[in-house]
Amino acid sequence: MTREALCRAAWDMLERSYAPYSRFRVGAALECADGSVFTGCNVENAAYSPSLCAERVAVGKAVSEGHRDFVRLAVAADTDDFTTPCGVCRQVLWEFAPDLEVLLYNRRGEIKVLPLRQLLPYSFDSSSLKG
Ligand code: THU
Repeated sequence: MTREALCRAAWDMLERSYAPYSRFRVGAALECADGSVFTGCNVENAAYSPSLCAERVAVGKAVSEGHRDFVRLAVAADTDDFTTPCGVCRQVLWEFAPDLEVLLYNRRGEIKVLPLRQLLPYSFDSSSLKG
């Protein structure tokens, strides 16, 4: 899939977003090594803290369907600026794909490419548990 097509898939998820509290809609599309794509949108909750980011919804869908070999992620938001994954999502993505390429997509149709390694320096993972 082209970068543009993956970004459009993330953008299309904005209409599924459930964000009555923040009114900030986010869509994500996660591409696997075999070309399969899993999408997600943010899912908020009245208690706020149980809210899910679009990225983690996409990861949960992929992993629960037997896919863990992520190669690219597109994150779309209806903003002029680029929206970057939150710290929790960066950590969740790192668990499966430290070499992930992250594409940020804004309402102007611009794409910014960032490696996850740049978004999450000094990361913590299973190798850190060895002591
Ligand atoms: N959000 C995402 O879904 N992904 C991001 O990358 C940034 C933030 C959501 C969480 C919450 O529903 C809303 O955006 C405002 O923070």
